[in-house]
Amino acid sequence: MIEALKPKATEAFVRIFGSQPEQFYQAPGRVNLIGEHTDYNDGFVLPCAINHGTVIAASKRTDDKIVLIACDYDDARSEFDLNQPLEKKEGDEFWSNYIRGTTQALMNKGHKLTGANLVITGDVPQGTGLSSSASLEVATGTALCHLSGITLPGSELALAGQSAENDFVGSNTGIMDQMISACGKDDHAMMLDCRSLETTPVSMPEKAAVVIVNSNVRRGLVDSEYNTRRQNCEDAARILGVKALRDANIDLLNSHRESMDEVSYKRAHHIITENQRTTEAAKALAAGDLTRMGELMAQSHISMAQDFEITVPAIDILVDIIASTKTDGGVRMTGGGFGGCVVALVPETDIPAIKEAVARQYPEKTGLQGDVYICQASCGAGVIASKA
Ligand code: GLA
Repeated sequence: MIEALKPKATEAFVRIFGSQPEQFYQAPGRVNLIGEHTDYNDGFVLPCAINHGTVIAASKRTDDKIVLIACDYDDARSEFDLNQPLEKKEGDEFWSNYIRGTTQALMNKGHKLTGANLVITGDVPQGTGLSSSASLEVATGTALCHLSGITLPGSELALAGQSAENDFVGSNTGIMDQMISACGKDDHAMMLDCRSLETTPVSMPEKAAVVIVNSNVRRGLVDSEYNTRRQNCEDAARILGVKALRDANIDLLNSHRESMDEVSYKRAHHIITENQRTTEAAKALAAGDLTRMGELMAQSHISMAQDFEITVPAIDILVDIIASTKTDGGVRMTGGGFGGCVVALVPETDIPAIKEAVARQYPEKTGLQGDVYICQASCGAGVIASKA
């Protein structure tokens, strides 16, 4: 439970600021069940929020400063003044950019924010594709708005978080991670239309488990490869004469095959088929059809490997190990790619066998260890009860 992080944040808050925090806020990380790289193509995604996230212990200040303490970086401190232009930090204070960027985005929208002391901790494994940064951004927006007496819809908090990534940190990411962190519901995945930002909760099948395995593959070149994929998709949309690949279908793609380079064709093929799979997966999940979900997840993985070319050998091996162990449901890489995590949606009764298979076969075949997390589909960001 994310709330289990409260005592750590409280202890640091009292030690550093000499008083109890006034409020606690949380925002979860996420795992994407299907719909990869479709978000910045105006398409569909089906993530769920997970029971790992960021907790902020907070109090208002009487001045216009924001003072940040990062418990997970040895109580590192960073501060800024809401009346001064916010600058991007490099080096030791880089983590504060997610907070600075979210704050800047909220102020750019005209929101008048109060000064605050924020003590931050989290348990989303960082750099593994489970959106620790989105959870930090959304927790920040939730905290600053609540302390300032501002009520915003989840989509506005999400857009502020995305702006922190795009306009402040410089990662050209889509809207999925922040939307699910802001708008997730307990025991539900969320079908998101990334063009309209319409959300539809989809209940998770009873007795199904969300099993996440961190491959521990070091993710190199993620940002540059991500941006290249994004560019490939924009190029393909231009060739096909559509606003975004969401507006293309297979017939249109095939009618342009001769005039398209191989890379543009393959990238567009992934996005077009992934959007179809995601729409179908939302229906299969709602119907509790783990078998169909599994087929779609398997197809998604192959498409990410062959068309979008974002998997790596160790991830493919991990997916194979779990695929040949589960009795129903599915498994695929999740997140931006080039390492990170795989997600399996399987009968709960498969958990022991999957843990055993990952512990034995994955090191044998790759020399790496996998970390297994059994996750619950969790609620999105919010205020948590103020007693530690
Ligand atoms: C990262 C980005 C998201 C999305 C995924 C791929 O998580 O932050 O916006 O593009 O990759 O589906």
